[in-house]
Amino acid sequence: MTVHQPAPPGSRLGELWRILPEESGTTADGVLEIGGVTVTELAERFGTPLHIYDETGLRRQIRRFIDGLSSRWPNSEVLYASKSLPAVGMYRIAQAEGLSVDIAGGGELQLALAGGVDPERLYFHGNAKTDAELTMALDARVGTIIVDNEDELDRLERLLTRSQRLLLRVIPGVEAKTHASQATGGLESKFGLPMDQAAHAIERMNAHPLMEFFGVHLHIGSQILDTDQFAEAVEKISSVGTFDTYDVGGGLGINYTYEEEAPSVEEYLDRIVAAAKSHLPPDARIMIEPGRSIVARSGVTLYRVVSVKRTGHTFVAVDGGMADQLDIALTQQRYEAIIADRLHEPWSENVQLVGRQCESGDLLVDGAQVPPVSVGDLVVMSATGAYAYTMSNNYNGALKPAIVFVRDGEARLAARRETYDDLLATHAPAIAAAKL
Ligand code: LLP
Repeated sequence: MTVHQPAPPGSRLGELWRILPEESGTTADGVLEIGGVTVTELAERFGTPLHIYDETGLRRQIRRFIDGLSSRWPNSEVLYASKSLPAVGMYRIAQAEGLSVDIAGGGELQLALAGGVDPERLYFHGNAKTDAELTMALDARVGTIIVDNEDELDRLERLLTRSQRLLLRVIPGVEAKTHASQATGGLESKFGLPMDQAAHAIERMNAHPLMEFFGVHLHIGSQILDTDQFAEAVEKISSVGTFDTYDVGGGLGINYTYEEEAPSVEEYLDRIVAAAKSHLPPDARIMIEPGRSIVARSGVTLYRVVSVKRTGHTFVAVDGGMADQLDIALTQQRYEAIIADRLHEPWSENVQLVGRQCESGDLLVDGAQVPPVSVGDLVVMSATGAYAYTMSNNYNGALKPAIVFVRDGEARLAARRETYDDLLATHAPAIAAAKL
């Protein structure tokens, strides 16, 4: 039974429910529950670090996008930007809920196919697709390839043996107000063609008997909190020409911290559809491709405290770190964290929550307000559902965490934790063969 406790002194529990998964609550003794399962039970069953996803909230969020867009603009399609969580279980959910899927590269293609996504509904992205990947995509009958450049058209001219649907990625010239590494719509972008070069590529596609060009694509960046920027991009792209389809990308930001105020899905859709009504042909098909805003809030990462060290600061060190939260180093993303098995105690201490990798930048939360914390306690970092698993790596020999989906009191493993054998597997046979 889920009880939302009265907030103990110093706690920010009231604000926390906004950034934790929708199906979160506490037990009577102050333990966090997600999808009706306590984090204590999840830690015991699956170990830590662990990525936990609230499947009910996740599916609800998917429907907010699909229903929200189709009610505003019926001729529309929502693509899931699967780089945000390229897990086979997630591809299954995307297919079941009626999302199309954006894949970027041969690896995501393999995972999507393993997840049972209808190839017809795959959109293949990438600024440097190789012959091998394009061949794999053509063999799999991927529905649409989103062409990035003319070299890719050269490759396709060589490789196509049957008709293929194509979109062209163009650079709209919108500098997204976000971290530089997440901005992709400015004139300096490596993705897509500048608008003045689009006409030539379009002519080539229109002239080719097997190339079925049907529209343009743009994506201005990620973690964008100002919806005017999406509207500006829609307006800019209208000047490329009149097409059947306009894919206006992803990028809607989410709330990572107690203070952030990201636009709602509804506000975002209102804004882009208003811009489309002003600037795009009324019978055009509109597509969007959100990633982060679909999966981020529904996922958290669970850690166990390994050490509490009181020097000038109080350092609370956990059994994971930047190897599984690369964003803290890559984009300086700020997160919130809680001591998930002591939510009913006064949050009386301010600590540095650190990981175990060998860098001072491995600071998961700079100044987390927490109850007195002990070795063995459970820590939850909220809103880690997007790009954390994606970018996890083996820094310091770290093992990629497992993923579980929880729903109605049940937990299901979606990806197992890496093992030391996995770590050794790519080396051992090669070394034996090479007699190193
Ligand atoms: N479409 C394209 C072509 C993209 O490149 C991306 C994200 C998306 C859609 C989805 O954007 P979203 O809705 O998730 O913002 N590593 C960074 C994120 C990079 C985003 C890459 N592209 C991070 O961890 O923040």
